[in-house]
Amino acid sequence: MTPLIVALDYADRESALAMAARLDPGQCRLKVGKELFTRCGPRIVQELQGQGFQVFLDLKFHDIPATVAGACRAAADLGVWMMNIHAAGGREMMLRARDALGNYQNPPLLIAVTVLTSLQETDLRETGVDDEPVGQVLRLARLAADCAMDGVVASAQEAMLLRREVPTLLRVTPGIRPLGTAQGDQQRIVSPSLALAQGADYLVVGRPITAAQDPAQALAAITAEITQAMAKQLPTQ
Ligand code: C5P
Repeated sequence: MTPLIVALDYADRESALAMAARLDPGQCRLKVGKELFTRCGPRIVQELQGQGFQVFLDLKFHDIPATVAGACRAAADLGVWMMNIHAAGGREMMLRARDALGNYQNPPLLIAVTVLTSLQETDLRETGVDDEPVGQVLRLARLAADCAMDGVVASAQEAMLLRREVPTLLRVTPGIRPLGTAQGDQQRIVSPSLALAQGADYLVVGRPITAAQDPAQALAAITAEITQAMAKQLPTQ
């Protein structure tokens, strides 16, 4: 199955479903984030699943352990394929989240968010973190691995370091731009093939596909690039 996850960053159900209808569930999974979910509720997830898509529920839970555990069960009951929580919620919160998924036959992949890429060193210091972002990313990733998380959200720049330092964690990587497409508001961007080479396991791609004139064609082009890149990574027989 493809590593591609298309971010459905829409404010209404119709736009999200219309975009999904133009995409092939054999070529991508879909990410539902806070805006779409808050507007449309669990039903949008069910509708997308009904169209044959596996869904990454990107709600980044961060609360007291019992509340996060309950929210994780709710996501698992919804049948999502991947979900995420903030590693900054701490050990007990992550352990309870992991435990909450223990009784499901096909639990969602449980991904930890380390440091949001929107935060700089000065932002961290203001919140009492006396370290550079990369140090805090590593600290939280190690804690996430210790709490049996399945993976982390990581920029392509962090992916290589994380693959070396915390190899058990999958790396879910946003900020992807195929060559020749608009950068948008992403600061540090890499191509799909470079992200895979740097250690990404899953690629989150939004506007390069959803804002393309022909989203299906954009998806097919990225899929072709990924297929080539992955073939190169396979050891020769
Ligand atoms: O349109 P674009 O490809 O920039 O969308 C990327 C998606 O990944 C968005 O849904 C965005 O919220 C998410 N994301 C990100 N950067 C992060 C974490 C998540 O762009 N560091």
